Amino acid sequence: MTPEENELLTRTGSGTPCGELMRRYWQPAALTEELPPGGAPLPVTLFGEELVLFRDDQGRLGLIGLHCAHRGADLSYGRLEDGGLRCIYHGWLYDIHGKIIDMPGEVNGGANFRESICHKAYPCEERGGVIFTYMGPGKPPLIPNYGYLTVPKEHTFVTKIYQECNYLQGNEGNIDIMHLSFLHFNKYRDTGGPGVSPVQFSGQGGAPGLETTEADLTDFGLRVCKIRKVGSDKKYLRVGNFVMPNLSAPPGQYNGKEGYLMNWHVPIDDTHHWKYIIIFNREKIIDQEEQRRTRIELAEGYRPVRNKSNRYLQDRESMKAESYSGLGLIFQVQDVCVTEGAGPVQDRTQEHLVTSSDAAIVVARKLMLKGIQDVKEGRDPQHVIRDPAKNNLSHLFAYSAVVPQDTNWKEVCNGIAAEARR
Ligand code: FES
Ligand SMILES: [Fe+2]
Repeated sequence: MTPEENELLTRTGSGTPCGELMRRYWQPAALTEELPPGGAPLPVTLFGEELVLFRDDQGRLGLIGLHCAHRGADLSYGRLEDGGLRCIYHGWLYDIHGKIIDMPGEVNGGANFRESICHKAYPCEERGGVIFTYMGPGKPPLIPNYGYLTVPKEHTFVTKIYQECNYLQGNEGNIDIMHLSFLHFNKYRDTGGPGVSPVQFSGQGGAPGLETTEADLTDFGLRVCKIRKVGSDKKYLRVGNFVMPNLSAPPGQYNGKEGYLMNWHVPIDDTHHWKYIIIFNREKIIDQEEQRRTRIELAEGYRPVRNKSNRYLQDRESMKAESYSGLGLIFQVQDVCVTEGAGPVQDRTQEHLVTSSDAAIVVARKLMLKGIQDVKEGRDPQHVIRDPAKNNLSHLFAYSAVVPQDTNWKEVCNGIAAEARR
C-alpha cells in the first residue's frame, strides 16, 4: 500500500473519508450491561468524538457531546433528573436529543438563548445487549438483521475487549483465516486421525502447501474460505466473512445452522479500538459464565489481562507442548498480541502480502476504498440497508466441514445461502 492509502483506510475522525464511510452505518457505542437502568452516565469516545451516553428518567437513551455547551464541564458527572442530564457546574439541562431544556441561572430558564444552541447528539437503539448509534447525516438506515438479533437473548453472549491499536489491523485479523493454523494452534486440540471433528481442524498446525484461502464477493462484503488438504481424497473447508465496513463473522465455535461469531472493531480513536464480540447459537442457550471463563480473559473495564505492559504473560515453556504462541489457550487473547504487535497504526507500506493467504485482505481493502468513493459521490455504500424487505442476513453464516476433494466451496456456500433464504 502507499502511505496515502494506509492513511485513507485507518483515519476515522470526523470529516475524514473513512470516518465518513463508517458513519453511514449503525455502530456499537456500548454494551447494555454498561448502562443499567438508573446507572451513571457513561463517557464514551467513538471515532475520536468525546460523548456521554445516558438514560433519562424515563429510561430513554441519549448520546450527546461530552462537554457542556456553556463552559465545557464534563457532562458524565451530571445529574439525571427532570427529563434529561443536568450539568453540575451551572445546571444546564440536556434532553436525549441534545436540546437544552433549562438554564436555571438565567431569566426564564434562558428560554430564548437556549433555542439557539445546537449541542451534538446522536440517535441510539438498543438491540441484543448492545447499544448502537448512528453518527452519520440524514435518515439512519436499518440495523442489519444479523443472526444474533433473530434469537432469544439467552442464546447470545456479548462482550468487548480493549485493543491498543487501529481498528483496521484488528478486523484484518479476522479476514486472515490462515493464522488459525499457527497463532491459534493449541496442541492439546491436535488429536488428528479418525474421529477429529471439523472444528478441531481449525486448530491444527499449518504446513507448507497444505492450505490456501479464497474469497467470493457478496452483498455484505466477502465470504472467505480456508481450504486444507485432508488425506488424498478429502479437504477441509472453513468459511468466514468480512462484513462492511468494520466487522467480521469469522469461524468461531459454532457454525452452519447453529450460529456464528461476530467481531466488530469500533474505533475509539485512530490508535485504540473496542472489539465487540458477539456469539449466538440458534439451537441452545449459551452458558454466560462458561463463555467468560473459556473464551476471554478480562480485567476491569474490559481490559485484557494479558497486555502489552506485561508482554501478554507469554510463557515460553508452554510453547513446547501446550500452545504455538505461549499465550494461553484463548483465541481472542492470542489475537490481541499479534494485532497490537503491528504498532498503533500498522505501516502497511512495509508489509509483504502472499498469494496463498492474503488475497481476501486485498479484496476487503478494495471494498473499503470503493465505499469511501461511494460516500464521496453521494451514494449509499455497500451493506447500508434501507428496505425492510431486504433486511435479511440469513445468507451470512460460518461453515466448517470435511468434504470430497472435488467439491466447489463457492457452490456449497451458495447452496446454503439459497436454502437459508427460503
Ligand atoms: S459548564 Fe455546564 S452549566 Fe456551566
Ligand atoms: Fe485469531
